[in-house]
Amino acid sequence: MQKPEMPAEGAPQSQRVARSLALYRQAEALIPGRTQLISRRSSRFAHGNSPIYASRAKGSRFIDVDENEYLDWVNAVGAIILGHADDAVDSAVKAQIDRGSIFTLNSALEIELAEALNEYIPSAEMARYTKGGGEANAVAARIARGATGRDLMLFSGYHGWHDWYQSANYLVDPESGEFPFAGIEPIGVPPALAGSALPFVWGDLKNLRDLLQAHQGEVAGIMLEPMRSQLPPHGYLEGVKALAKAHGAVLIFDEVSCGFRPRIGGVQAFLGVTPDMTVLAKAMSNGYPMGAVVGARAVMAPASRMFISSSYWSDNLGLAASLTTLRELDRRNSAQRFEEIGDALRQRLNQALAEAGLAGACRGMFWELALHFDLPDESLRPIANTLFIQEMARRGIHCNVSFKATLAHSAADIELTGRCATEAFACIKAGLDSGDLPQLLESDLTQEPFRRLVR
Ligand SMILES: Cc1ncc(COP(=O)(O)O)c(C=O)c1O
Repeated sequence: MQKPEMPAEGAPQSQRVARSLALYRQAEALIPGRTQLISRRSSRFAHGNSPIYASRAKGSRFIDVDENEYLDWVNAVGAIILGHADDAVDSAVKAQIDRGSIFTLNSALEIELAEALNEYIPSAEMARYTKGGGEANAVAARIARGATGRDLMLFSGYHGWHDWYQSANYLVDPESGEFPFAGIEPIGVPPALAGSALPFVWGDLKNLRDLLQAHQGEVAGIMLEPMRSQLPPHGYLEGVKALAKAHGAVLIFDEVSCGFRPRIGGVQAFLGVTPDMTVLAKAMSNGYPMGAVVGARAVMAPASRMFISSSYWSDNLGLAASLTTLRELDRRNSAQRFEEIGDALRQRLNQALAEAGLAGACRGMFWELALHFDLPDESLRPIANTLFIQEMARRGIHCNVSFKATLAHSAADIELTGRCATEAFACIKAGLDSGDLPQLLESDLTQEPFRRLVR
């Protein structure tokens, strides 16, 4: 990519992202909430230092609207898996644009992709498509309810913005306690839906068993993120599957975030436990809008009698992008490459912590790494985390305290990340040693928008 123009030596840091900050102020008046995705809010990073708007991206890098170049470890919150603007996927999409992005009639690509998903996703026999993950989860909940003739959904994870799921936040009085997933207020969600979706504690089989017993014959579906960065307790997913079967509930894995990287077939291929239905989105199309619900014929076939229909689900670009992404993941030996990249990055970040003399660790599975600092006081955590994001941003690395790789990340990218992290860790260590950690911060504190049920 073109070499970015750097701000003059000694220029205040916020000047480096001045255009981003100006656009963000402009957005406040024009776009409620300023961004379309909560995870793209500047408050998720080091506001004042982190870039907010990008102008172009390629491979493992992007250029922000101020012409700074960044190495990207966020990758559209996981939606980019091969690398930004991947040549193979983009060529397929451009060729498809020339043939027509959407037809009056149906597209044979729908059938081709269903066959490819059957090939790669262990539990897939039939497929329906959407344009995003939350939407696909809403479809999965509809099918589970329709196929069983029951209403109640049990869930553990983040499953999107739709009413069926957000209604769970009415279960706890905000005056008296935490919402099931703190941070989200169900404003605008009909309170009448309260009690139609109940959260369960991931990893705790007894909790799920008790819920199923308390609601005998009522549970349509059990939806969960099978895992994110930690392996489930031994036998947990097998236990969930057995409970779902015993209670006649549809078992749904939401693999929107954990899919494709561990194996092309997702966590279910990695751990060898299959659900009845799987929800996919994000990485399946390397950044083009696409989502899918796939599953066993017995649970999917009843969907033919349900009202599940939308114009843009027939769009050809997402289909072409998904087909090419799946083939490219296979051709590029993705599972092995993600393991190599993840293991190398974990090792390099742990080396950087040791070099800087900062107590902590880089942990997690190879596809979902996270930093954890050992701090004398928990109240310092948001400060230390923000300082890390700030210092990395200043060095041209866009990350959170977590890292999501693409196949475009090279050994040189990992080495650069390690070198910059050593300096960022040293800055945190100096602040902790001197007691003036907060003074080193020149950004607003990073904010977790909501508590995750599966970490
Ligand atoms: C596990 C999981 N499910 C669903 C969603 C929602 O997907 P989307 O943002 O495409 O609606 C997300 C998004 O982060 C997710 O991580």
